[in-house]
Formats: sequence, structure tokens, C-alpha cells
Amino acid sequence: MSARRGAILREMGLAPIWRLRGVEAQEAEVPASGVAEVASTASPEAPSHAPPAPAVPKLAEFLPAADLRPPIPNRPPQSAPLAHPVTAALHPERAKRIAALDWEALEADIRGCTACRLCERRKQAVPGVGDRQAEWMLVGEGPGAEEDQRGEPFVGAAGKLLDAMLASIGLKRGEGVYIANAVKCRPPHNRTPQADEIEMCKPYLERQIALIRPRILLALGRPAAMALLDTELSIGASRGRIFHRDETPVVITYHPAYLLRNQADKAKAWEDLCFARKVVAGH
Ligand code: URA
Ligand code: SF4
Repeated sequence: MSARRGAILREMGLAPIWRLRGVEAQEAEVPASGVAEVASTASPEAPSHAPPAPAVPKLAEFLPAADLRPPIPNRPPQSAPLAHPVTAALHPERAKRIAALDWEALEADIRGCTACRLCERRKQAVPGVGDRQAEWMLVGEGPGAEEDQRGEPFVGAAGKLLDAMLASIGLKRGEGVYIANAVKCRPPHNRTPQADEIEMCKPYLERQIALIRPRILLALGRPAAMALLDTELSIGASRGRIFHRDETPVVITYHPAYLLRNQADKAKAWEDLCFARKVVAGH
């Protein structure tokens, strides 16, 4: 293991575990077909048909290969369409207006937004950061104290871990990666955003997704997953599966702040990232 790779994995708390776990562990999480109404077939190749995994996986296998990105094939229509235009139904004019904004107007709109109670105690709204042509779009929960102060998502302790997680699969904030949150304003005392706040903020998230058109949406934690999929779910039961928001694959993993409190689950988060990388690569 190179010193740099070792340092990245140590930063994530993965170094010892990484040597013990094979790719099989990660693939064992993948069911042969989706079971929830929003899940598609998780993997066209069932894990049992996969070629034998090397005993010791090389991290390099999960690093980006510029020429290894075939387009994601068109998918058949989903049998159970997602019922996500809740906000549009409640506030059709607002949703319609936001859906037509360009990047500059969208960010200005977010910064001036007073549509929900979270505007009252924020220092500033935090629209998002990164590559506007990103293949990867990460969605967190909402800004914390440092994000509220600095106006950028994931700049506190959870953000440092997120950067290490990205580095572990060869990604970097701002380079092919865009980071946003389900709500753009800090919930007081970092409480979980409420469903109506997420709904009210959703047209902004939807517009960001529409402008970026990422190859993958990575939901960090339960509120983000619920914002993207408009359904109740648990992280544990959702890991290792491909969901969809319209045509865009959605992969769900733990929130970095949760991982800071539950170090043992970092290895699972790394498996999820490796799984997401395979989804982006189209296999
Ligand atoms: N947690 C989040 O969900 N988002 C941030 O931007 C920071 C911490
Ligand atoms: Fe507006 Fe979203 Fe902030 Fe609520 S959280 S005030 S909807 S930008």
C-alpha cells in the first residue's frame, strides 16, 4: 500500500479493515433484483456470476478511469413512478419559477429565500459547491454551524471525513463532484430538517439536479435519501441497491457525521462508495 493510500484509509479509519475485506463483502450487499417499489434491478449481473474477486482488493480498481465511462443505458419506465412533485402541487408557481432559473439566478434566489422557517436563524443560505458539470452529486442533510458561517457545504468535521471518503475512491471536491444539501439553511441546533422544510427547499435541489445532470446521486444519510426518493426508508436496508430519481441512479450511504460517531460503519460507507463507483462506470 502506498503511503498516500495508507494515509487516506487511516484518515477514514479503514486501514486495518481494508486489508481484511474483499470485494465479495461489498458485492454480497447487492441483491439480485430490487425489492422496493422505487428500486430497479440492482445489478444486471448477479453477484454469483461475477468473476472471482481477488483475495486482496486493490484500491486502484476503484479509481477513476477516464476511458471507462460508457453512457448509462436508457432504462425502461419504472413500474411505480415516484410521486415527488409534492412541492409543485402545493406551490406550483414557485416551483415553476425555480425550475426555469439559471445557475446565477438560482443561487441568488436561494440566498434570498424566506420560504420556510429555517431562514429566520441562518447566517446565510448555503446553495452548494463544486463542479457544475459533475458526474457525482452528493446530497447531505443541511448546513451545520461552520457551513452557516462560511457559506459552503461540508466544511466542518463531517466535511473533512467526506473529503477523505472522496479521496479514497479517487475523487475530489469540486472536480467532477458537486455537493449540496437537502435544505440550504442551517436548522437550529443542527436538528434534523423537518419534512415541510425539505419539501419547501426541494425545488432548489431539483433545479440543481436538472442543471448538473449527474451520472449518480449519492444520498448521505436518511433525510437526504428521503428528499431524493420521496419515500420512507432506512439506510441499513437501502445500502448496496440502486434507486432512481427519474433517470438518475441514486445510491444511499451513511452521513459522515453519523460515521464520526459510529466509526465501525466507516468500512460499510467505503463499500457503498465502491458500489457507487461501479454504478457510475456502468457495471
Ligand atoms: N452536514 C450536512 O448534512 N451538510 C453539511 O453541509 C454539513 C454537515
Ligand atoms: Fe428557503 Fe430552503 Fe432556506 Fe427554507 S431552507 S428558507 S426553503 S432556502
